[in-house]
Amino acid sequence: MNRKLIHRLSLTLTAGLFLALAQGAVEVGRETGAPFHMAFGIAVGVLTLVWVVGVRKARPEAFPLALSVLATVGLSGLTGTATDPALKVAHAAFSHLAFALAAAGAAMTSNSWEAKLAVADGGFPTLRSLAWMTPAAVVMQVALGAAYRHKMTGLIPHVSWAFVAAMFVIMTAAFTMTQCGKHPALKKLSIWLISITGVQLILGVVALIGRIAENEAARSAWMVVSTTSHVLTGAVVLALTMALSAQTLRHVEPVAATNLAATGQNG
Ligand code: HEM
Repeated sequence: MNRKLIHRLSLTLTAGLFLALAQGAVEVGRETGAPFHMAFGIAVGVLTLVWVVGVRKARPEAFPLALSVLATVGLSGLTGTATDPALKVAHAAFSHLAFALAAAGAAMTSNSWEAKLAVADGGFPTLRSLAWMTPAAVVMQVALGAAYRHKMTGLIPHVSWAFVAAMFVIMTAAFTMTQCGKHPALKKLSIWLISITGVQLILGVVALIGRIAENEAARSAWMVVSTTSHVLTGAVVLALTMALSAQTLRHVEPVAATNLAATGQNG
């Protein structure tokens, strides 16, 4: 399988996982269940297997990540029919993770991955450390959102942690734009990330107002739309965070290594 084809397959898989997530989010929002979601999930699982085999041949350095996508898709499938709230939360978290890791896979199979443009990691905290911390903070935010949706916790943990997650995201995007403004892929991802996070914070407030005004007798279509938009935009925030992290770890180099390379002392 050539590089172009594997990139197209990565984009198709990412879109498939997003659609599966959207179906699930609408079902939870309307408090219904639909067998179509399960059938679609199985199809996406098969596509993931084909993709993993393709990645191994066309982009071996992305193979460990491809295996992590396969593992999260598998775990999402295993927890998909559970009725226990903790397992429902796990199902939501694995589904978000699978989509976000596949988006990082799409970044790793893109042209911008191939053209390595090294940038020095000069600030504090370093961009390479933020590449690990920021996705962790956003995963936590998504998991707390799922815990609320499945009635395991109240909303306070999710809303409080939103300040921490948003701070990490904004700091990462702002630092990346300041330090790597001339790097096209890093700049583009940072601008998207900061913009979509802004939209997500507004959608969060709208979802919250919808919840407060909720009429027990009827789940209004407006509320399903507003909460589902917030869930799916949250998934996009996580996916952009992961894609930016993958590109950062590829292109941003520790300052010491960059200095050595510049002075030709690294052999
Ligand atoms: C970076 C910031 C945020 C992210 C990434 C995020 C993400 C999410 C996700 C992924 C879910 C659903 C999890 C699932 O079941 O799949 C969720 C639920 C929710 N979030 Fe956020 N969130 C953020 C900020 C906020 C803020 C600032 C508020 C309110 C002020 C908020 C209010 C809510 C509410 C009310 C729900 C439940 C929606 C429902 O009723 O179904 N979120 N969030």
